[in-house]
Amino acid sequence: MIHAHVTTWFIAIILLFVSYSMQKKGKQKPAKITKMILRLFYILILATGGHLFGIYASSLGSGIFTSAVFWKALAGLWVIASMEMLLMKQAKGKSTELFWIQFVVSLLIVLFFGYVVL
Ligand code: HEM
Repeated sequence: MIHAHVTTWFIAIILLFVSYSMQKKGKQKPAKITKMILRLFYILILATGGHLFGIYASSLGSGIFTSAVFWKALAGLWVIASMEMLLMKQAKGKSTELFWIQFVVSLLIVLFFGYVVL
């Protein structure tokens, strides 16, 4: 399941860059398709990550809220939210700077928890 989880978020990040560059070039129609596929990958990330989280949650009980895996999962949700907001703001012609910053910060937190702490 961990490999499925890593594969899904990795593909999602590629799809973020593909969608962003398409929107930047004004190719709104193909961008709509890649964004739809990206949303499917959000669900796959949530399903695989949620499954992994469930395994920890059942063994940690109420201690889950103070565990590193809880903060890892929360940061993972933040990555997804910043990706979605970034593309939405860009599609509306608004500034994406704030969401790029959030994307980088949340991704660094997730990678730190995923590979260093856990
Ligand atoms: C784009 C978003 C996400 C990224 C980039 C990400 C990244 C990662 C990474 C790097 C790992 C460690 C993989 C390894 O040890 O080989 C991991 C594991 C994990 N992720 Fe995510 N994740 C994301 C979203 C989520 C979400 C939304 C959840 C929860 C609903 C979640 C829950 C977990 C859990 C429970 C683990 C297992 C921790 C462990 O055993 O090391 N992740 N993730």
